[in-house]
Amino acid sequence: MSSKESPLSPCAPELDDTLGGVLNEDKKKFKTCSQIGFYRRQKLLLPGRSPYHARLETLTVGDDSATLEILHQDTKVPLQLQVFAVEGDILRLKINEVSPLKPRYEVPDVLVKEPATQRLIASKTEEGSVVLEHASGPYKLHVTAKPFCVSVTNGDKLVLSVNSQGLLYFEHLRSPPPNSATAGCGSDSSEVSSQDELGLWREQFGAFVDIKASGPTSVGMDFSLYGFEHVYGLPEHADTHQLRDTGDDDAYRLYNLDVFGYPLHEKMGIYGSVPLLLAHKPTHTCGIFWLNSSETLVEIHSKAALQPSLSSAPPDITKQRAVPQTDVRWMSDSGIVDVFLLMGPGPMDVFKQYSQLTGTQSLPPQFSLGYHQCRWNYEDEADVEAVDSGFDEHRIPYDVIWLDIEHTEGKRYFTWDRLKFPNPARMQEMLREKKRKLVVISDPHIKLDPDYSLYAQAKDGGYFVKDRGGQDFEGHCWPGTSCYLDFSSRAVRDWYSAQFALDTYKGSSDVLFVWNDMNEPSVFEAPEMTMPKHAVHHQNWEHRDLHNLYGFYQQMSTAEGLTRRSGGQERPFVLTRSFFAGSQRYGAVWTGDNKAEWDYLKISIPMLLTLSVTGISFCGADVGGFVGDPEPELLIRWYQAGSFQPFFRAHAIRDSQRREPWLFGADNTRLIRKAIEERYTLLPYWYLLFYRAHMSAEPVMRPLWVAFPKHPETFGMETQYMLGDALLVVPVSEAGASALDVQFPGTGERWYDFRTYECVEGHRRQKVTVTLEQIPVYQRGGSIVPMQTRAGKSTGWMKNTPYELHIALDSKVKRGSLYVGRRGGLGVRGTLYHVKPDVREEI
Ligand code: NOJ
Repeated sequence: MSSKESPLSPCAPELDDTLGGVLNEDKKKFKTCSQIGFYRRQKLLLPGRSPYHARLETLTVGDDSATLEILHQDTKVPLQLQVFAVEGDILRLKINEVSPLKPRYEVPDVLVKEPATQRLIASKTEEGSVVLEHASGPYKLHVTAKPFCVSVTNGDKLVLSVNSQGLLYFEHLRSPPPNSATAGCGSDSSEVSSQDELGLWREQFGAFVDIKASGPTSVGMDFSLYGFEHVYGLPEHADTHQLRDTGDDDAYRLYNLDVFGYPLHEKMGIYGSVPLLLAHKPTHTCGIFWLNSSETLVEIHSKAALQPSLSSAPPDITKQRAVPQTDVRWMSDSGIVDVFLLMGPGPMDVFKQYSQLTGTQSLPPQFSLGYHQCRWNYEDEADVEAVDSGFDEHRIPYDVIWLDIEHTEGKRYFTWDRLKFPNPARMQEMLREKKRKLVVISDPHIKLDPDYSLYAQAKDGGYFVKDRGGQDFEGHCWPGTSCYLDFSSRAVRDWYSAQFALDTYKGSSDVLFVWNDMNEPSVFEAPEMTMPKHAVHHQNWEHRDLHNLYGFYQQMSTAEGLTRRSGGQERPFVLTRSFFAGSQRYGAVWTGDNKAEWDYLKISIPMLLTLSVTGISFCGADVGGFVGDPEPELLIRWYQAGSFQPFFRAHAIRDSQRREPWLFGADNTRLIRKAIEERYTLLPYWYLLFYRAHMSAEPVMRPLWVAFPKHPETFGMETQYMLGDALLVVPVSEAGASALDVQFPGTGERWYDFRTYECVEGHRRQKVTVTLEQIPVYQRGGSIVPMQTRAGKSTGWMKNTPYELHIALDSKVKRGSLYVGRRGGLGVRGTLYHVKPDVREEI
């Protein structure tokens, strides 16, 4: 993203409809940093020149927060800083204008509740600074006035600081200049003023012009993390798990976009965003959660530096040494600064703190932990039946068959193509008898067709996103011209939820579940293939304010619909492509349109690890690769990897060759069957891990640094990972592999080959032989893995299958548990059995 292209160079998106979609491999369709106005503006503020001073004399301490004013030295526009000590070692800083011309967007609905706070106590230590602390926590905030800076200490240790680089940036709302004419598309470049160069009131990208009703609204701030050189998080990018130094003209972009066959190792934004960054060192883990749903860019700089001293006394040079430091700069297009510092101190503490704010992973219905069979498209009822019986014929377990957009009447969601699916009820009865389920797709665009009742109702209700002129925004997607539901409105969400009622959604049944796709939202022939930022939502908010929330809201509304459909009795299953912080509460996420290539299998591991540490445990990648035709070896390796990833679904693009598991010869069928069967025998373990993710925010899939936080050799590992705390999984992601270099972590640990029980001592790297039979998996000594003795035709057939416990010995036997959920319950009621101490808890 470091292109030096002129920000105004004409690059109208080229469309290619050969796949009935739009091919986006051409990166020119997406902006580089230098083509983003607020990035160019914020970059004019250089480190070390903060224009902000804190007015310490304005400090007031209330019951829930402390507030003070900070003043821009040139504009004299005052900002208000609010500091909160949230229970559980979370610090929150909010910065907004003292008196904005109109309210600025504050992200609603993402926090599960207004966080409970503790009273702060203020004290003055030296001239020009105040200290804020609270009675029960170890962390103190030192607010320095000139320039404004906040440092967080623990005892005498400086943990992090805010605005120490002086990059607080806050564009106050202003009246438009007299000649800020809202120029339309394709205006002459000679009209482009120097203001336009900076994208203050209008910004051009190729043929697209963004007209900014509120003018410049961007915000930004920097954070320095002392002693930290490893940072993670910020999905979604097709990149390494450990975040990289971005250099000076690049940044991780958080902007939800539909990027078909996304390029690898890029910082460009793809389908979803979680603005949570985690920093880790052996003695401490902490997090920065930047609650802003507009387009966001994050720069990361790592260096070795002398730690700044908080005291005015000269530092003792003999004791000073350079330590690692990571500086993080956040920049957002609009909204306010609302940032949570999750102080840890361990990785699990940070996960809990984050879940306290945004919720935990919802407990999936058990069937959804089985294997899912998808394709664009299963053509008709006969096709569905044939595929379904293919699984039985070849004795391969599976739980869910999926229908993509072609099952509908002309891409009108909630309808059925009556020729191909004349009797959906009968088809679902067939699946029910087999104890299997159906998932159908439901996208957020609604075909503009007055005879389509969903469109007509939404039109009448005023449920669509509007354009700048107040008319329904019209864009193009699969059905042709479409309007887009405004899920940011509660009324729209309620109405949409109601569409899933069994008597409203004709031909649906309670074995039908839902897939939300294209919800970035994807808009063909629009800037970056998404909704223009100047589109208008409920309560007049611009799309720019809440772009990254759009998919979050659709999944929320769908999950509510499925829950309501069952009278609040059944857990929903909803898969979404686009997501935001908090999406974990509503179901599963997948990594979109990957390719049937080895490198995409390999990248699925860091991508899923990153989602997992940012709260989204129920995640997966299309097994086999969506675009293209995988060779059999790749397909087998992908099944083997996928069976150890949380959401396990094979999917393939339209016009690709059929690839049901039995189409590659008897031996390959056997290998795929074996991988899927292993998944099913491990179901009790999967269910237990999701129970824990739901109850206590422990990620299901964990990077090694989380499991071994004191072992620096694990901090950069992304080719192997832990499943829960017991299994070490090493997927094979290279063609023709005959051996793998495996890191067995932990001094004094023992690792047992999961199939042969052979023992390897920890804290070593060892070459292990691999065959095409399976990928290496090891069980940690001291752990107990609950399993079932054999796989059934689906999870529904395994209710009476005996359980078995795999106990891996160690000098110190730890605890093992088994969670058996009660059938059909919405909550987590069931039984939790513990081995050592031998107890049983009814929950
Ligand atoms: C894009 C999705 O990413 C893909 O999974 C789906 O098959 C197509 N849309 C068609 O609905």
